[in-house]
Amino acid sequence: MVINHIGFIMDGNRRLARRFKFNPTKGHELGAEKLKQVLEWCRDAGIKEVTVYALSAENINRPKIEVDFLFNLFKKEFEAFKKDRRIFDNEVRINVIGDLSLLPDDVSLRMREIIKLTENHNKYIINFAIAYGGRDEIVMASKRIAKDVKKGLLAIDQINKEMFAEYLYLSSEPDLTVRTGGEIRTSNFLNYQSAYSEWFFIDKMWPEFEKEDFDDILIQFSKRKRRFGK
Ligand code: FPP
Repeated sequence: MVINHIGFIMDGNRRLARRFKFNPTKGHELGAEKLKQVLEWCRDAGIKEVTVYALSAENINRPKIEVDFLFNLFKKEFEAFKKDRRIFDNEVRINVIGDLSLLPDDVSLRMREIIKLTENHNKYIINFAIAYGGRDEIVMASKRIAKDVKKGLLAIDQINKEMFAEYLYLSSEPDLTVRTGGEIRTSNFLNYQSAYSEWFFIDKMWPEFEKEDFDDILIQFSKRKRRFGK
C-alpha cells in the first residue's frame, strides 16, 4: 500500500529528559535530532510528504523559559536548513502550518525565508505544524470562506468538503499518523485532514523512536484495510 503522507505527534521529549535527570529542554534537543533521522527513514521509504507537530497553539502557554528555548531551537534549525544540502539535493519543500503571528518576528522571519527558498521544490514536502491547532485552523478557514462569500467570490452552494480543505493551512491528508509518548489521543492535530488516517500509538518517547519501530508501523499499515467508510 503506497504511503504518500505521514504525520507525527512527537510526544514525550520532556519525560525522556526527566528520566535521565536532564533538563527538560535537553529532551527537545534530542527530539530535533530524532526528527532528522526519521525524515531520512521516510525519504528512504519513498514517502513524499511528512507533517510533524512541533508546537501546538496551546504549547505556547507553557513556562516562558521552555517556550523561549523552543523558539531558539526553531530559529537555529530553520537557519541551518538554509545551508543543508539534504534539503536542496532532495528538492524538499518546507512549509509551516499554524498561526505564525503568535511567534516572535525573528523566529517567523527564519521560517518565511526557508519557505520562500524551497517553494519550487516538488520531490518531498515537510510541513511543520507550529503554533498550530486543528480547531483554530477550521475556524480560520470558515472565516476566510465567509469573507469570500461576502465579497461575492463564492456562492454558499459551492462550499463542499474539497473546497473547504483548500482554505485550510494544509489540504493534503496523512495516510497514517504516529503518536509517540504513550498517550492515546489526537490533541488537536490535523482534525479535518486525519478523518481517515490510520493511527498508531507508540509507548516509547519520541527521542527513543527507532528505525525498527518505524519499519514495524509500515508493516502494520500495509495489513490494515482502509475502507474510507465504505
Ligand atoms: C512534545 O513533547 C514536543 C514538543 C512540544 C516540541 C517538539 C519539538 C521538536 C521535536 C523540535 C522540532 C524541530 C525542528 C527542526 C523544528 P513534550 O514536551 O510534550 O513532552 P512530554 O509529553 O514528555 O511533556
